[in-house]
Amino acid sequence: MYFIGIDLGTSACKLLLVDEKGQILNEVTKEYPLEFPKPGWSQQAPEDWKKAVMEGVPELLKGFDGAQVAGIGAGGQMHGLVVLDENDDVIRPAILWNDGRTAKQVDYLNGEITKEKLSKLTANIAFAGFTAPKILWMQENEPENFKKIAKIMLPKDYVNYILTGVHCCDYSDASGMLLLDVEHKCWSKEMLDICGVSEAQMPKLFESYEVVGTVLPEVAEALGIPATAKVVGGAGDNAAAAVGTGVVGSGGCNISLGTSGTIFISSDKFGVDPNNALHAFAHADGGWHLMGCMLSAASCNKWLCDEILKTKDYAAEQVDITEEKLGNNHVYFLPYLMGERSPINDTNARGTFIGMTMDTSRSDLVQAVLEGVAFAIRDSFEVAKSLGIAIPTTKICGGGSKSPLWRTIFANVLGIPLELVKTEQGPGYGGAMLAMVGCGLYETVQAAADALVEVASTVQPDPALTARYEARYAQFRKIYPACKELFAQLV
Ligand code: XUL
Repeated sequence: MYFIGIDLGTSACKLLLVDEKGQILNEVTKEYPLEFPKPGWSQQAPEDWKKAVMEGVPELLKGFDGAQVAGIGAGGQMHGLVVLDENDDVIRPAILWNDGRTAKQVDYLNGEITKEKLSKLTANIAFAGFTAPKILWMQENEPENFKKIAKIMLPKDYVNYILTGVHCCDYSDASGMLLLDVEHKCWSKEMLDICGVSEAQMPKLFESYEVVGTVLPEVAEALGIPATAKVVGGAGDNAAAAVGTGVVGSGGCNISLGTSGTIFISSDKFGVDPNNALHAFAHADGGWHLMGCMLSAASCNKWLCDEILKTKDYAAEQVDITEEKLGNNHVYFLPYLMGERSPINDTNARGTFIGMTMDTSRSDLVQAVLEGVAFAIRDSFEVAKSLGIAIPTTKICGGGSKSPLWRTIFANVLGIPLELVKTEQGPGYGGAMLAMVGCGLYETVQAAADALVEVASTVQPDPALTARYEARYAQFRKIYPACKELFAQLV
């Protein structure tokens, strides 16, 4: 029996073929473009996701018996507004999770509707990337498009719709729309009213491991898999990554270092951060989680290397950053290249280098970027600690976690051990695990995690280095408040 895990990311769709023992047999990556039509805007064509899956799956199955595919599960970039008309055609490009165009709508929601009310209805407040403010933006700026909306969905739900013909969404991903009553796991009628949409325009809700349908016969034929293959609800990419790293049940932590950077704390009980700095969302295991999300994480290093240093050899850029340089860098970097979500919620915030002198080297800048991302994750880590949550250790996954140097920096900036799992394919592997549960191979997501997830290595923090980073972090914390007002004027 085979399972396909889909990681519908921001820069690419990664497909995994996994056998029933959890071994990864093959993987295929299909890249697609990201549009930034205006500063701070971020869009993508849902048709590109469809193409990636329709072309990627046959490629994934080359040399394997497609008839053995029993289930498919997807983890997808969260919050993206996908709108379909009455013929289920895409109305406009999807507005993505890192899009900052909705500052006005966020102010309206958090100010006029009030944060208190939003938090009561949805367990969260408005952030620019969330789906509800984008619906309001469309209503105001594209009334013709808004009128055409027959269905609203999230990126991986569009893929699930293409596969099954079912308009569906799971609770973990739906949590990030600001339209879900997260505690009671149903659409909030009041929030739908506030956004001028009806429940009929919303997809049907499922648990991440529940089967939403089987693959449509014509799609199954095109993909080379049986029409009996089951598709599960899937999850937001962070919840799927947490499943893939075994962060399920209570008290686990996973850091994902991808285009975005997240810290994800699982819980079997519903809970809200009273200041709403951390998101309170449903988890893919049937429980809940708190999460801090920074909008640019590994993408800061990618930006520096690709766009500024003009190199693709990221590892070579890190060679000069020796052990003794760690915790001694006089250059700091604010990683707010797309504004920032957690915990500062500021669309005006910008990427900033500070502290350079004539002896500042190329590698000092690279180091500052790696450290700035770790410091910014620490900001959310501190919020979690202030809520009395103990985080004695964390898993780490995502492209950035492949750098041993970055892992060392993270372990010492946070002062806790960092565990890397054997299959560090977070969301895609989590998606395949959810499909295994949906197909009855495991009774629960916890059982799947117990059976399949193994820690491969641990990075222990070094007390002397942790102390040096403590002092650096104290400096870092002063920089954003000093720049905040200026950032607002730079726009
Ligand atoms: C989470 C978030 C990002 C995207 C990235 O709230 O916005 O992590 O899911 O794909």
